[in-house]
Amino acid sequence: MTTSMPPGGRISGHKLATVLGQWRRRGPHHGAADLAAAVEWQVREGRLPPGTRLPAERELASAIEASRTLVGAALERLREKGLVASKRGSGSWITVPRTSGLPVEAEPDGDAIDFARASPPAVPALVPTLNEAMPELAALASGTGYSERGLPTLRERIAARYTERGLPTSPDDILVTNGAHHAFVLALRHFAGPGDRVLVEQPSYPNAIAAVRAAHALPVPVPVERGWDVEGIEAALKQSNPRLAYLIADFHNPTGLRMDAATRQRLGAALVRARTPVVVDETMVELDHEGDPASGPPPLAAFTGDGVGGNWAISVGSAAKTYWGGLRIGWIRASRQFLAGLVSSRSALDLGSPMLEQLVLARLMALDDVLPARRAQVAGMRDTLVDAVRTHFPQWTFEQPDGGLSLWCRLDEPIGTRLAVAALNHGVRVAPGSRFSVHGGLEQWLRLPYALPDDRLAEAVARLGSAAGSVRGGGGASEPPEDVPVA
Ligand SMILES: Cc1ncc(COP(=O)(O)O)c(C=O)c1O
Repeated sequence: MTTSMPPGGRISGHKLATVLGQWRRRGPHHGAADLAAAVEWQVREGRLPPGTRLPAERELASAIEASRTLVGAALERLREKGLVASKRGSGSWITVPRTSGLPVEAEPDGDAIDFARASPPAVPALVPTLNEAMPELAALASGTGYSERGLPTLRERIAARYTERGLPTSPDDILVTNGAHHAFVLALRHFAGPGDRVLVEQPSYPNAIAAVRAAHALPVPVPVERGWDVEGIEAALKQSNPRLAYLIADFHNPTGLRMDAATRQRLGAALVRARTPVVVDETMVELDHEGDPASGPPPLAAFTGDGVGGNWAISVGSAAKTYWGGLRIGWIRASRQFLAGLVSSRSALDLGSPMLEQLVLARLMALDDVLPARRAQVAGMRDTLVDAVRTHFPQWTFEQPDGGLSLWCRLDEPIGTRLAVAALNHGVRVAPGSRFSVHGGLEQWLRLPYALPDDRLAEAVARLGSAAGSVRGGGGASEPPEDVPVA
């Protein structure tokens, strides 16, 4: 049986014993060395990802039928190798293996829970794939290392996925970027300057709204409630004449909504009529809890016809939610003519994406079992969060999403920002609805991401429960928690 665990969570003594299996190899005098070697092997195989919190020494000793002294000595060996870190009061956890120089520790964030970033830990296949990609990197090392468009092997994989989803795509239609947000910023720079209008959904991804503002452009919000109001968007296109639209059609962040095929068709036609190019953010599309999104509606870009040198849609995607945010790899799918312009203007901003991460992602995308396992993991986390919210906040309402990474909760009172501020004092960082809005407001809403191991999700909601108690008691400030980063 392959025993895996949610990366970044706490592993119980019993489960760790199962993962380690027959760890005694060389007789009683080598117990600590054997145990350390067995743990090291599982770390290198990716079954104990960095950040995994280990059971207490006593619990582990009893689960593997060894003495505490032996367990303590094994942990000491692992600490010396940089594979385990420990802190009084916080226990021990797996860290990134140290090869040279400074130790790199994936320390669990003390007591505060990051409930503001919708970004799950890396898939377990990441670390083994990294090792496999090393020889490929060595083979590339005699070249310059620069590639403005991205590695052909990765572009092939990305293009094939669009084709499978119903949008025929060639590797020449793809530009690799440093994440979907970077992809959006590249497109935004191309279309919108100071004073230009950019149509965005309300609510929408906060960093996209911030990017529009940073470009001194004006975000024009169109409300998304139970779905997309095509007539409202048509009216906004007519009245505001935006230079660009930014839409999240597949598992919208924060609402989790997915646009149906008929709406895509109507909206695509409306954008083409208005001659408004659209950035379609598909960061969440692969996190379809029901199965492979290739059986869902085709990408919005399949409905936007000829425009900016081939198509009015510029699709942006990412490896961040499917594989890991730390890869910092995303992409743009657009017409070749548009991409050629973008490639030449890109050099003012950056000169390409890192090679090793591209090699790793190309390999991960070739593995058939990684995405189904990720979808199942995310659907499980959603169910845990739904249960916890129903238990602690029966008065809140939400639509259970079929994909994506967040519950968009309607509170029984307009206390979103006050609750987020109070939550900081209860050891949990959360993003209030106002962060997802262009002009503030949305105080009756809170986004809760499901991107943490089950025990952390349950704990985060419990802490939020205590914070809500203090707010109802009249406490809590109303200043927005500016310093909470959102993903
Ligand atoms: C809708 C949306 N777009 C873009 C991003 C950023 O993606 P990346 O990490 O690839 O830049 C996120 C991350 O949370 C997101 O939710």
